[in-house]
Amino acid sequence: MTTILVTGALGQIGSELVPALRQHYGADKVIATDLKVLPPSGAVAIAPYDHLDCTDPHQLHEAVRRYDVGAIYHLAALLSAAAEAAPQLAWSVNMSGLYNVLEVARGYDCQVFFPSSIGAFGPDTPRDLTPQVAIQRPTTIYGVTKVAGELLCDYYALRFGIDTRGLRLPGLVSYVAAPGGGTTDYAVEMFYHAIRYGRYTCFLSADTRLDMMYMPDAISGMINLMAADATRLRYRNAYNITAMSVTPAEIAAAIREHIPGFEIDYDVDPVRQAIADSWPRSLDDSAAHADWDWAPRFDLAAMTQDMLARLTEKLKPAPRRQRL
Ligand code: NAD
Ligand code: SER
Repeated sequence: MTTILVTGALGQIGSELVPALRQHYGADKVIATDLKVLPPSGAVAIAPYDHLDCTDPHQLHEAVRRYDVGAIYHLAALLSAAAEAAPQLAWSVNMSGLYNVLEVARGYDCQVFFPSSIGAFGPDTPRDLTPQVAIQRPTTIYGVTKVAGELLCDYYALRFGIDTRGLRLPGLVSYVAAPGGGTTDYAVEMFYHAIRYGRYTCFLSADTRLDMMYMPDAISGMINLMAADATRLRYRNAYNITAMSVTPAEIAAAIREHIPGFEIDYDVDPVRQAIADSWPRSLDDSAAHADWDWAPRFDLAAMTQDMLARLTEKLKPAPRRQRL
């Protein structure tokens, strides 16, 4: 097994992907990298860690050469709401970053994982049970970079034989690291606020239906896809995957099963609502099931139970030191 490099490793996904990869392949086989110079405390911060700006091709080449990298999980990107607030920066990070990763992969024959998104679809796409192959005309800069990224990965696979693989991830719910500026962040926030304050004001409307997934399923999906038999993969970039299709009101009801007094109200943010309204309500992930045995473990009830238990533990106040 050659070394694995993870870009954007200190974000919501990387904070859990890096420890999972290290457990799977060995701690010294996984190099965590990010734009942030000083890693905060936490499992992902354990060496090997390197500062790496994916928009700088020289830094990427140097890291891949120095660590003898054979696979790159390219997570560095701006998410949908952050990208809409800074479209030019989003283009630079999401597109130049991916181009640099693919070029270095071409030079050193690396396997590449690219996380696409439900945001790669747009308002013209069928919104219910969105097929694996469907029209993709997104109206956000985030979606534009994800469709272009899917196509670029396909091109490098076809033209240069690079082993690129990708997933269209839904909104991810997790408790280790905070989400980094997405439209689906409300789902994570709701759990934190339920435990801390017993109430939450949601920035999407009550009936906004989107695909969601608990982070452990997303992590195993990425690792399993990268290990899958290449001859079975009909689609390189990227496979639809989902675990549940839910609204804010339904997540609130699931939380109320554990915290009966939990209250939710709505103060809709027009920018993020417009983004959500342009995305699918549910994805058809049958191709992922058929081609590489995709099988999520967590539905809404199971995710809610685990998320509340783990967050309650995480947010528990530290015990006071006794005075001598
Ligand atoms: P995040 O925002 O939490 O983390 C992104 C990380 O990238 C951050 O730590 C940031 O410091 C780093 N970064 C930013 N610019 C960089 C640069 N120039 N060079 C190197 N690092 C840089 O994002 P995430 O939620 O972990 O998402 C990772 C990937 O998965 C992204 O491509 C995202 O589009 C995709 N995705 C995420 C979700 C989700 O719900 N989290 C859903 C679908 C797809
Ligand atoms: N969770 C992501 C976002 O909201 C979807 O790609 O941006």
